[in-house]
Amino acid sequence: MNSDIPSLQPESLPRHIAIIMDGNGRWARKRSLNRIRGHREGAESVRDIVRACREMGIEVLTLYAFSTENWQRPRHEISALMSLLKGFLRSELAEMMENGIRLNAIGQTERFPADVVKVLQEVMDMTRKNPGMLLNLALSYGGRDEIVAAARKIAAEVVAGRLQAEEITEAVFSSYLYTQGMPEPDLLIRTSGEMRISNFLLWQIAYTEIYVTSTLWPDFRRGELIHIVHEYQKRERRFGVTGDQIKKARRRE
Ligand code: IPE
Ligand code: IPE
Ligand code: MG
Repeated sequence: MNSDIPSLQPESLPRHIAIIMDGNGRWARKRSLNRIRGHREGAESVRDIVRACREMGIEVLTLYAFSTENWQRPRHEISALMSLLKGFLRSELAEMMENGIRLNAIGQTERFPADVVKVLQEVMDMTRKNPGMLLNLALSYGGRDEIVAAARKIAAEVVAGRLQAEEITEAVFSSYLYTQGMPEPDLLIRTSGEMRISNFLLWQIAYTEIYVTSTLWPDFRRGELIHIVHEYQKRERRFGVTGDQIKKARRRE
């Protein structure tokens, strides 16, 4: 373990970190390289950040790797991203097993090519019982799509008479999302400076702390992540109540 991690307060670590990994194309352009090279270097950041989160003791790490809108990119870029994903899954399996990491995918993964789906399924099956960090990859993921899919499943339950409309609460609705059973993200990081959500985890980020860094994803490594977690630990999460109420509740603990 690196010496930078113990400086964090263990009692206020985020349980779930979600990251919009953006800026691979700009990283490559700055170096007059093609975009694919940016994605390749971005995969190195993924390795580093997964490792750092595990060492920190994060329970869930969700990485936005491919959005429903990303299908509109040039075909050769999409296929390069697919083979990078396949390569990543293959090369990381041993380390995931060694470190107890469980892999999960959220999104319409069935839209992916059969060979990628196969590797993804294999890695998910092999890591299913791992007790450590959950690595959640958002693949062909869209927040609106997820909400519509949940509404459809709920409607079918109501039509079948298994659920009453009045029984649909926020908790019930959440249980129909891809992230069912996971804590909501405490911290959302977006790299490359864009101040937008780009259809990521729309329901789940209602009270998530947001941090945007101008660093491009291929340059984003553990040192900056730890700095951001430090910044997160300085924030007061109020969830709609007053700062005084929070202090009073803390004194009672
Ligand atoms: C993020 O980097 C990777 C994916 C969206 C797959 P981009 O490819 O979006 O990089 P920029 O935004 O063009 O710099
Ligand atoms: C968001 O990045 C999606 C992923 C990181 C996978 P984009 O590059 O697709 O987002 P926009 O188009 O700039 O909003
Ligand atoms: Mg982008």
